[in-house]
Amino acid sequence: MEALNRALRPVPSWAVYAGGVLPFAWIVWLTAQGGLGADPVKEIELRLGLLSLQFLVAGLCVTPLRWVGFNLIRYRRAIGLLAFFYLSLHFLTWMVLDMGLRLDEIAADLVKRWYIIIGLFGFLMMVPLAVTSNNLSIRRMGARSWQRLHRLTYAAIFAGSVHYVMVAKVWLVEPLVYLGAVVVLLMLRVWKAWPRRIALA
Ligand code: HEM
Repeated sequence: MEALNRALRPVPSWAVYAGGVLPFAWIVWLTAQGGLGADPVKEIELRLGLLSLQFLVAGLCVTPLRWVGFNLIRYRRAIGLLAFFYLSLHFLTWMVLDMGLRLDEIAADLVKRWYIIIGLFGFLMMVPLAVTSNNLSIRRMGARSWQRLHRLTYAAIFAGSVHYVMVAKVWLVEPLVYLGAVVVLLMLRVWKAWPRRIALA
């Protein structure tokens, strides 16, 4: 593990941002080439949704990986902000390209496909996290309250993975694998925090 940490040491966090926007560039390229099939808006929506979930899950892996000695902590902010970047685009694609910003359409879609409300809940949980993901906010809030606020990510990721399971309408393997992975990663945190709680009581 130490060799892996050493190998990563010269990699700056901007490289994670640069690598992380490549899938976005790929989507833009495919759109321009007409390579997204018969319903490009839906394809864009789905690809952005999946990317946001993948970055959210990657962010959730950082702490358990540190427990086993693999330290990616300095890339965590980049991973989280990339998740928010894709999530915002996913949301905007739905609002602007899919619904055409028409309030009646938006309301009808929320009633018809209420898993979108679950996704919306996940998105709203992420907004305060993205806004406070800077050194000034950490200093102003204090590390403890900042950490407490950032536990909202757990609710956001859980909502996002449930939303993905529900999008499919039938039981599909891939969404269930994501949900299972998220549940395991969240349980690991509960398990790790447990002895500390008992010790503090
Ligand atoms: C944490 C928040 C969210 C996550 C992780 C997420 C993730 C996903 C994923 C993985 C998919 C399916 C991709 C695929 O089948 O390849 C999806 C589909 C979709 N999501 Fe989200 N999403 C979130 C929030 C939202 C929000 C805020 C909205 C809109 C308000 C939204 C609207 C949709 C729609 C309309 C679809 C496509 C459904 C369809 O037509 O088949 N999602 N999302």
